Amino acid sequence: MTAVALIVSDIHHAGPAERERVGYELACAPNWPVRQLVRAYRGLVWLREPLGNGLFLEEFLRRSGSPDLVIANGDYSADSRFIGVSDHAAFASADECLGKLRARFGEKLHATIGDHELGKTSLVGGHGGLRLASWPRTTEGLGLRPFWRHEWGSYVFVGVTSTLLALPIYEREMLSAEREQWETLRAAHVEEVRAAFARLSPHQRVLLFCHDPTALPFLARLREVTDRLAQIEATVIGHLHSPLILRTGRVLSGMPAIPFLGVSVRRMSTALNEAKLWRPFNVRLCPSLTGIQLLKDGGWLTVELDSDARHPAKFRFHPLPWHEVKRRAA
Ligand SMILES: [Fe+2]
Repeated sequence: MTAVALIVSDIHHAGPAERERVGYELACAPNWPVRQLVRAYRGLVWLREPLGNGLFLEEFLRRSGSPDLVIANGDYSADSRFIGVSDHAAFASADECLGKLRARFGEKLHATIGDHELGKTSLVGGHGGLRLASWPRTTEGLGLRPFWRHEWGSYVFVGVTSTLLALPIYEREMLSAEREQWETLRAAHVEEVRAAFARLSPHQRVLLFCHDPTALPFLARLREVTDRLAQIEATVIGHLHSPLILRTGRVLSGMPAIPFLGVSVRRMSTALNEAKLWRPFNVRLCPSLTGIQLLKDGGWLTVELDSDARHPAKFRFHPLPWHEVKRRAA
C-alpha cells in the first residue's frame, strides 16, 4: 500500500489587518543608509511584497489535489509586529490561514509551530522578539500542538517546536521576566521528544518535521535521538524559504558566530556555526509558497511512501510559478 503526504511551509499569510501595515520592516530601520540596505535586500533578494502571499495560498489550495496526509511546517502569518501571534493582527492572519487549510484538508492536516508564531526580533532596529503571551494564543487560540506524532504503516511522523529546542539561541530575544517559564516549556518539550524516540520500534522509520534547522544540533545532543538517527528517513525543515539559502548555509557551515551587528545576525551566525550537525538528519527543505524574490522558486513538496518502508521515501517538488499565480489573480 502506498500513500502520499503533502508538505507546505512558510505560508506567511497576511489577513486584512496585517495588509494595512505596508512598509512595516522599513519603518524599523534606524536611519537612511540602513533603510536603503533593507529595501535593496528585501526588494531584490528576499521578498518585495511580504503582505501579498494570499494569492499564492489560494493557488496552492486549488492545485494541491487529494493527498492522504498534509503537513504544514510553520509560519502562518507575516508577524509584522515581530511579537508573534500575541499581536492581534498576526493572530488573525494565522487563524485565517489555518482556517483555510483545515477547511480544505480537515483531519488530514498536521501543523507544526514556526518561529514567527512566537515572535522574532526584526532584521534591523531590534523590534519585538519572543513573547510568552504568544504561547497560549498559538497552542490554545490556534490549536497548534507543540509536539505531535502520527503513525502510518512503518512510518512515524513527528512534529517538534524548533524555537523551544533552540531556546538558548533565542535568549537575547526574550524578556528576562519570561525566561524561567520558557525554560519550563522547553524542558517539558524535550522530555516528549526523548520519550517519542525512546519508544520507536527498530523497524519504524521517522519523518521529522522541524521548522527551523537551528534546532537540529540541540536534538543531536539528546541520547534517545542520536541512538535512533539511522531511523530518520528525512527531516523536513522550512524557515529558509529557498534551496539557495540552504545551499548558502551549507557553504557557510562552521563559520564563527558574530556577536555584534544585532541579535538577528548573532542568531543566524550562531546557527550556521553548528550547521555541520544538520547532515545526519537527512535534511529536506520545503520552500515557502513564494520562494525568494531573486529566483521566484517557491512551491510545495509531496512524499510518496510505501507502508512497509521497503523503498526510500520519494520526495517531489511542485513549483508554483509566479506568472501563473498573478495571471489568475488579474
Ligand atoms: Fe518563514
